Parts: sequence; C-alpha cells; structure tokens
Amino acid sequence: MISRRIKTLASLIDREERVLDVGCDHAFLAVWLKKNGHSGPIACTELREGPRQNALRNLQENGIEDVQVWLTYGVENVDFDADVIVMAGMGFTTVTKIISGRPEYFEGKRMIIQINTEVDKLRRWLMDNGFRIDDETIIRDYKYYEILTVSIGEMQLDEQQIRFGPCLLQQKSDVFVECYTKRIAKLETIRDSLPENHPDLSRIQEQINEIKKVLN
Ligand SMILES: C[S@@+](CC[C@H](N)C(=O)[O-])C[C@H]1O[C@@H](n2cnc3c(N)ncnc32)[C@H](O)[C@@H]1O
Repeated sequence: MISRRIKTLASLIDREERVLDVGCDHAFLAVWLKKNGHSGPIACTELREGPRQNALRNLQENGIEDVQVWLTYGVENVDFDADVIVMAGMGFTTVTKIISGRPEYFEGKRMIIQINTEVDKLRRWLMDNGFRIDDETIIRDYKYYEILTVSIGEMQLDEQQIRFGPCLLQQKSDVFVECYTKRIAKLETIRDSLPENHPDLSRIQEQINEIKKVLN
C-alpha cells in the first residue's frame, strides 16, 4: 500500500508538471502519479544500481514505459527539463550536496524537499544559500514528516521559524500541535528521570518552555 507520505508528496504536484524524482528508490512516487492521471513527463534518478533496478521493475510491473531512471548523483548530467524536483527520504548532507553540485539546474524550478531529521538545519542552510520556503506541511505517517516547498529567492527567518518552520508556525495545524504536544511529554519524561543536578536539565526545561510558548 502506498504511504501517506508519498501521497502527500504527489498532492503537491500539478497534473501537467514535469517532475524529476531524485533518489526514487522503488519509484513509488512516479508510479502513483502515473496511475492517478498525471499527464506531464516524469523522470527519476538513483545513485545505486540496486534501487534503480527496483524502480525499473516497479514501473514495468505497472505498465509504465515512459519514465526514465538515470543512474547518477542527484541531478548530475540529468538532461530533463523539470518544473518540480522532488528530493525525499534522503539526509540533510545529501540534499544540500545535490543542490550545491549543480545550482543552476534548480533555477526557475520548484523543489519539494522532505528529509527525516535536521529540518531546522535545512531551513538555515536554505536561508543562507539563496532559497526561500514557499510552503510547508507536516503529516503523520507513523512518524512525523515535514515537507518543504522551496524555490530560489530570499527569506529571513528567526530562530523560532528555523526550528518550527515559518509556514508551519502560521498554520499551527492539528498535526503540528499533536507532534509538539507529544514532544513535550517526551521531554518531560526525560527531565523527570534525571537527577536534580544533571547538567542537561536546564536545556531540556528551556526546550519545553519554548514549545509551550509556541503552542499557546
Ligand atoms: C530512503 S530512500 C527514499 C526513496 C524515495 N525518495 C522516498 O521518499 O520514499 C533514499 C534513496 O535515495 C537514494 N540516494 C541517496 N543518495 C542519493 C544521491 N546523491 N543521488 C541519487 N539518489 C540518492 C538511495 O539510493 C535511496 O534509494
């Protein structure tokens, strides 16, 4: 069954757009898009041959013949004119290396980025490297995932926006509130398990206070 995360990524893409899915693994996104009426061209890239073969097999099993899967690092040597580039399920270092490796490729394009950890680090990097966050969404799919829509541009984020997401802070969706309510509970459990003089106590309490301030 296709994951909520993949469906959410797909929901951020318009039907006619030219899509490049970087690090496609099984090409679940491409297959889902094609099977749900996407009319624009789709291409994928993969770093390793094993996942590329998984992608080719999945595409073939679904009768999809017009999706190319390039074996390459990120968007290196990719000759495909995309409107939207999806980079999902990879780490902060990989995604920022991919963008830095061929910055001109991303000009005039929209990026949909989902990394599993260090999203705050990614926001800071985007701000410092001439990118703008146009939209954000948070979903729960067993874990919580933050998905960023990004383009080239300027933005100024304060520390709170870097940590929680500028758009997520404005939206304060039910999933956002749920995610951070659970985070508080987790931090309180850790705090209460520590001895009174533990050096981490004040940092943990500061984090709890900050989240409570955001949620109120
Ligand atoms: C965890 S999977 C995520 C697959 C899919 N994008 C998703 O969101 O479900 C990460 C995939 O990215 C690929 N990958 C990692 N680094 C890459 C790079 N620099 N360029 C292309 N693919 C890469 C890995 O081989 C792996 O198949």
